[in-house]
Amino acid sequence: MTERTLVLIKPDGVSRGLIGEIIRRIERKGLALVALDLRNATREVAAGHYAEHEGKPFYGDLLDFITSGPVVAAIVEGPRAIAAWRQIAGGTDPVEKATPGTIRGDFALETQNNLVHGSDSPESAAREIALWFPGR
Ligand code: PPS
Repeated sequence: MTERTLVLIKPDGVSRGLIGEIIRRIERKGLALVALDLRNATREVAAGHYAEHEGKPFYGDLLDFITSGPVVAAIVEGPRAIAAWRQIAGGTDPVEKATPGTIRGDFALETQNNLVHGSDSPESAAREIALWFPGR
């Protein structure tokens, strides 16, 4: 069953020159890019995106970080795209959870600066795609 997920390459991934590497891994897995855009997230979009984390100790830093520079936003599509992307991205904590061979396991050290984001459920994907790509 074809599924869609919202992928972000966060400001650290863009500034470190990892866009090509990350997109290469998406394509190599067999997933398709159906929308792709380099942009600066507004505070409003950032707050909507991370609404579920409001009130957590890292929430303010998270909004500052995601709005600190350009991000790549993408809609990625394919069979089980949500789980497939999370498999190649690796766990949220790049050292304790992500394994070598994943994007975070290979290139990241910190839970905030963990390079990429992916939707965690079909409901989140629908909400996040509507937020970042209205009408898609
Ligand atoms: S949690 O702890 O269950 O809320 O974590 P999770 O849902 O996996 O993702 C949390 C997102 O917030 C970012 N972030 C942090 N998480 C946990 N602890 C700290 N200190 C922290 N700092 C930032 C983390 O990168 C996740 O971002 P996304 O974009 O969803 O991957």
